[in-house]
Amino acid sequence: MTTLAQKLTNGLITLSGLDREDILRILRHSQKFKDGYTPKSLENRIVASLFFEASTRTRLSFESAVQRLGGQVIGFSEASNTSLASKNESFADTLEIIAGYCDAVVMRHPNDGSAQLAQDLLSIPILNGGDGTHLHPTQTLLDLFSIFETQGTLAGIHLGLMGDLRYSRTIQSLLETAVMFNMQLSFISDDDFQPSQQQLDWLKANNVTFSLHNDIHNAIAELDVLYVTRLQKERFVNNSTDVQNLIVTTDDLRNAKNNLKILHPLPRNEEIPNDVDDTPFAYYFQQAKNGLFVRMALLDLIFSNKDVPRTKTQTDLVAANEWRCGNKRCISHQCQPAFKRINVHGQTSVICYYCEQNATAQ
Ligand code: CP
Repeated sequence: MTTLAQKLTNGLITLSGLDREDILRILRHSQKFKDGYTPKSLENRIVASLFFEASTRTRLSFESAVQRLGGQVIGFSEASNTSLASKNESFADTLEIIAGYCDAVVMRHPNDGSAQLAQDLLSIPILNGGDGTHLHPTQTLLDLFSIFETQGTLAGIHLGLMGDLRYSRTIQSLLETAVMFNMQLSFISDDDFQPSQQQLDWLKANNVTFSLHNDIHNAIAELDVLYVTRLQKERFVNNSTDVQNLIVTTDDLRNAKNNLKILHPLPRNEEIPNDVDDTPFAYYFQQAKNGLFVRMALLDLIFSNKDVPRTKTQTDLVAANEWRCGNKRCISHQCQPAFKRINVHGQTSVICYYCEQNATAQ
């Protein structure tokens, strides 16, 4: 049996390789850090913080976590002043060079699958701080920590997800774990921004109970947690979209259950008006603070297990010349494309190894 320590030797790209007990163990470990535990498990360690895309919470909470654990940080908060941007150095060469200066990398990058490519290229742990619209696993860990903290359980809760549910990496990662904990889901969005058919099929294959709604008003009364994401109005192709239906107001909250908590990965725009902050339902600022404890726990788990042998997971790939990835944001268009076959409860399909979207036969 593979232990959690073994699963984390190469860092964290996706939560799909962890099971329910692994997640609960990370959350229990995170609670110790929230309670004040501060081992110096990163003493004499250097972590490179590579943010090719903007961030406030992920970058600064990771950097704070490293320093609180006794480690040091190098890196950049935007790539424009690197040789990659100004001297045409390749992504692979950039990573290879930086890996020689540090013991682990935390990376955010605009291309889907870039974190997986980085992990395959390097032999130090890579922590995915968000890869394009694909995944944001450490955000999900802090989301789950906040849900557990406020609901006392993850199992069977009714989770409402509102906003851009198709292109939000925080939603993709959260869905990976909602299945593990048998959560009931209500998706609240414009039709064009509901989860993709691929995602809905995957939820059905995993026997997840879910419902689709175009507005918050009918859904709110059933929810234990409402997870709101920023409305990316520039992407709303349907001009008839009434974004008013995707804003949670104090009026809507009159129908909420007492235990309801509102979470948001932040930053927010108008989807949560400021007066909601003063209600007992608002939990997004505590949620963001929890990111520090969860990231400390994760770094501690990776660096306190020095004796765990590093092994790379071998993925069985299918012939790349027979398949094509249609996702324009995918990193596979900047490297050798690769595809894998998956089987979800008897249904086989081929997906891009990097962005995990359905592949098209050539
Ligand atoms: N939630 C989140 O990822 O925030 P940042 O973009 O500020 O890191």
